[in-house]
Amino acid sequence: MSTLSQIDQALQWIERQTHLRTKQARMLSAGDQGKLLQLISLMLQPQRILELGTFTGYSAVCLSRGLADGGRLDALEINDELEDLILEGFQRAGLREPGQERAFLHLGDACELIPTLPKEPYDLVYIDANKRDYPRYLELVLPLVRPGGFILADNVLWDGKVLQDCPPQDAQTQAILRFNEQVATSDALESVLLPIRDGLYLIRKKIVLL
Ligand SMILES: C[S@@+](CC[C@H](N)C(=O)[O-])C[C@H]1O[C@@H](n2cnc3c(N)ncnc32)[C@H](O)[C@@H]1O
Repeated sequence: MSTLSQIDQALQWIERQTHLRTKQARMLSAGDQGKLLQLISLMLQPQRILELGTFTGYSAVCLSRGLADGGRLDALEINDELEDLILEGFQRAGLREPGQERAFLHLGDACELIPTLPKEPYDLVYIDANKRDYPRYLELVLPLVRPGGFILADNVLWDGKVLQDCPPQDAQTQAILRFNEQVATSDALESVLLPIRDGLYLIRKKIVLL
């Protein structure tokens, strides 16, 4: 069996188990979005990937398909009840071969975990955790992204709510609005908002020439 078909079977397994074992399968980055994540990662061939908000591991496996030889993915997830499901998915995707592990799960709050990660720069970061913390995630991950590296952020259209009048008490929408403003106005970043599914921000950290 080829590695690709093994991984495809792993994604099918994760999707099915997510429907059977969780009540929030709508959170999966499956279908076209998963394919887009795979293709972006395959184009970039990152050495190091960071994911905030792993859920059942679907997007982590998609992103891991583009890893360069010897590369690794760090997956951050706050819900420790998902641990067994995530790790079995990683195993089925060939990411946990003894001595050649490529995906590492870190359980806890992303804001607390990020400062504890190994200090090598990341080539690609996928932000898909707590919407209220998106502005903080950007502040925390930006120094960890290498110049020329990329950040992807999901749900930045937030079901269209970012385009409507937003009540101050709607903390999630307010935070995504702040995040979108941070990205659009930062001199350190260039970006395009892709209107795929719930909105995917494609962001590049500029290389500063001295
Ligand atoms: C939209 S789901 C992620 C979906 C996943 N990236 C995928 O495409 O299959 C968001 C995940 O973020 C996790 N999460 C929420 N708050 C978090 C936090 N503070 N730190 C880490 N993970 C968090 C949730 O438990 C949930 O599993």
